[in-house]
Amino acid sequence: MPVRIAVVGAGKFGQMHLDVFTQLGSTGLAELAAIAETNPGRAAELRDQYACPVYGDYREMLGKEALDAVSVATPDHLHREIAVAAAAAGKHVLVEKPLDVTVEGAAEMVRAARDTGVLLQVDFHKRYDPDHQTIERRARSGDLGDILYGSVHMEDRIEVPTVWIPHWAPRSSPAWFLGVHFYDLVRWIVKSEAKTVYATGAKNTLLKDHGIDTWDCINAKVDFENGAAFTFDTSWVLPKGFEAIVNQGLRVVGTKGVFECDSQDRGTHSCIDREGMATYNNNFKRESVDRQGRKVLRGYGIESIEDFAGNVAFLKSGGRLEDLKGVWASGADGLEVTRIAVAVHESLATGRVVRLR
Ligand SMILES: NC(=O)c1ccc[n+]([C@@H]2O[C@H](COP(=O)([O-])OP(=O)(O)OC[C@H]3O[C@@H](n4cnc5c(N)ncnc54)[C@H](O)[C@@H]3O)[C@@H](O)[C@H]2O)c1
Repeated sequence: MPVRIAVVGAGKFGQMHLDVFTQLGSTGLAELAAIAETNPGRAAELRDQYACPVYGDYREMLGKEALDAVSVATPDHLHREIAVAAAAAGKHVLVEKPLDVTVEGAAEMVRAARDTGVLLQVDFHKRYDPDHQTIERRARSGDLGDILYGSVHMEDRIEVPTVWIPHWAPRSSPAWFLGVHFYDLVRWIVKSEAKTVYATGAKNTLLKDHGIDTWDCINAKVDFENGAAFTFDTSWVLPKGFEAIVNQGLRVVGTKGVFECDSQDRGTHSCIDREGMATYNNNFKRESVDRQGRKVLRGYGIESIEDFAGNVAFLKSGGRLEDLKGVWASGADGLEVTRIAVAVHESLATGRVVRLR
């Protein structure tokens, strides 16, 4: 029996969730059982495109549909209520990153899942990038020695805050939208928790030229309990002409080794008339066909969401939550990452180093 999964929030990234659960339908592992979307125009489009019921209110959906799991892809500040309600209704829950934008909210979500014994997973998909997995594996085996320091950059083109999500960009920031991915990845690689956080940033063109009150860039320094020190440069004002929607990469330096990874430019470049120069992060998402000639999407952006369906199938077949191993990020991971991001914003506001432990 396929696991029955509903998606709440079917905007830009919710589409990825719809694509993944739809394509899993042909494997028998999972089924896209329902969708909840508050935007009436988008809901009407979805009713034309998908065979499953589409609700305007997720509570009505939870009441009426026999679901095993719910994946939440609403704007960041709207994850909490939906995830808590889904967990309270006994559904396994996948939440888009970040888990929540408050420590209390993230902690409430973790408690809600614990109370009913359901899986709470966060879509921190950087853990599924094969290059990042190599770094984590070599660090875990000791090949890098003691990790001393490293650096991360993750930057979006300016169309993300100005065209994709202008309606909620003021409630987000480069740290919430981008930084959290790598706060989680670095925690996972160094196997340690953040001890102190210091951040600076700039509010410039988004506020002055686009009327969007949010940070252009946030530059954070995080010291971990085991001594590893990382800088995280995040921004979402790269020019429209930049070769990809996102630019990202990391360096990890230890006493016995160093890894450098360009997590965006994997070596394929093109220049097509009307498109200009482009690079392709085929690790994230690529298109192929299956034996029946159907379109299939692969890549870490897909596998991270698929992994949730696999975890739910494991639990549905009698597996125990405590036996669920793998690279997936738990609610507890999501809570730690939210602690770091909240500390980043506290440091921005106060100009001080924030001590987490
Ligand atoms: N993993 C990634 O790389 C990645 C990339 C982009 C966005 N995201 C995350 O995905 C989430 C969604 O981002 P997005 O860019 O798709 O935003 P979006 O604004 O494009 O889409 C959000 C959708 O949620 C709907 N919605 C809002 N409240 C709802 C509710 N109560 N019930 C049902 N639907 C509701 C909106 O109508 C909208 O269609 C965010 O948490 C964001 O940070 C993740």
